[in-house]
Amino acid sequence: MTDAYDAIILGAGAAGLMCAARAGQRGKRVLVLEKAEKPGKKILISGGGRCNFTNLGAGPANYLSANPHFAKSALARYTPQDFIELVDSYGIAWHEKTLGQLFCDGPAQQIVDMLLAECAKGAVEVRCNAEVTAVEHDAGRFAVMASGQIATADKLVIATGGPSIPKMGATGYAYGLARQFGLKVVEPRPALVPLTLGGEEVLFREISGVSAPVVATANKASFAEAALFTHRGLSGPAILQASSYWRPGDPVTVDFLPARAPGWLLDAKRENPRATLKSLLREALADRLADILAEKIGLAVELGNASDKALQAAEEQLRRWTFHPNGSEGFAKAEVTVGGISTAELSSKTMESNKIPGLYAIGEAVDVTGWLGGYNFQWAWASAVAAGDAL
Ligand code: FDA
Repeated sequence: MTDAYDAIILGAGAAGLMCAARAGQRGKRVLVLEKAEKPGKKILISGGGRCNFTNLGAGPANYLSANPHFAKSALARYTPQDFIELVDSYGIAWHEKTLGQLFCDGPAQQIVDMLLAECAKGAVEVRCNAEVTAVEHDAGRFAVMASGQIATADKLVIATGGPSIPKMGATGYAYGLARQFGLKVVEPRPALVPLTLGGEEVLFREISGVSAPVVATANKASFAEAALFTHRGLSGPAILQASSYWRPGDPVTVDFLPARAPGWLLDAKRENPRATLKSLLREALADRLADILAEKIGLAVELGNASDKALQAAEEQLRRWTFHPNGSEGFAKAEVTVGGISTAELSSKTMESNKIPGLYAIGEAVDVTGWLGGYNFQWAWASAVAAGDAL
């Protein structure tokens, strides 16, 4: 049996559903094929079940891509405010948690229900348990094989996301399909992912559960948020953010006392010469972390007995503590994927392939990756609208 549509969208995730709704509401006959038993599974687990659906400050600077300009057009044409208006029109209550991050007050299911309602308004057909296994392109028409059924359309949208969290069924299907059509793929790697420590740094694994407000830096990208020590190494928002910029072999530097003005240890020596580095660190950080840092720096004497040079060196060490992660926790724990279908292959206005008319790619499948904090969903919505309005 062959079904004919104007557009077939592969993947009923954030981007696929949004794109389908827009195209359907413009009168297009749209089919969405989803391999899972229900749509929007990543939305459901996102933001700890409350879906951090956008970020008030989302702009091109919050995204990684081989072409940092690519995301500008779509992000400018569908803004966080546009998505908030949609959420509000469904009466979904939300709040700003921190740093412009907007979360649902209730369960993330509300966002999935909203997207499905938008799809229903456009008479979109969402078919679950339909894993796409083959796509053929002949005489300008795409034929898609999914779970034994074939559907055809003039337009095909790749919205199958990235390989982060394979346990949930995530795959790199988008990349194989893109390559089949001759599109380049920027090497995918795990991002927003905990980093692991080995060697001498296993010491820090002993303080699993301890966190601290830090500035973490990898490859010149710095993030002022919390770092968390884990039984495998480093996590917490500051480290997850930095991990997107980190590559194997790179150091990650951590400023453990970002609020302290330069020279604070010399000031402390004058004001409180009987204090020790350890006692001062214990005032600012969790005891177990303070003890490890003080021990590693090795300045055991009272400040009054320490040379200014030694204190300056200790301060510098605390400002630029250098970790040498021996790896990351990989796609199994990565919240997103950096890399993907090269933006050089796509129109930034419509997300259509420059080489294959009628072929589109949106969402996480594309080489545009947001920071932690609602930016990835904003890209999913914005890229989906760009394509959905052009199909
Ligand atoms: P998405 O992965 O959502 O959807 C792709 C769909 O395609 C899936 O439903 C998949 O089953 C389907 N598919 C794959 N292969 C297929 C095939 N061969 N045939 C048919 N269907 C196929 N972001 C954010 O902004 N705020 C947040 O709070 C969070 N929180 C969060 C938590 C966790 C644990 C994770 C793992 C991720 C987040 N994210 C996030 C990231 C966010 O979930 C992600 O960027 C978007 O879901 C990407 O949307 P897409 O639609 O591109 O892919």
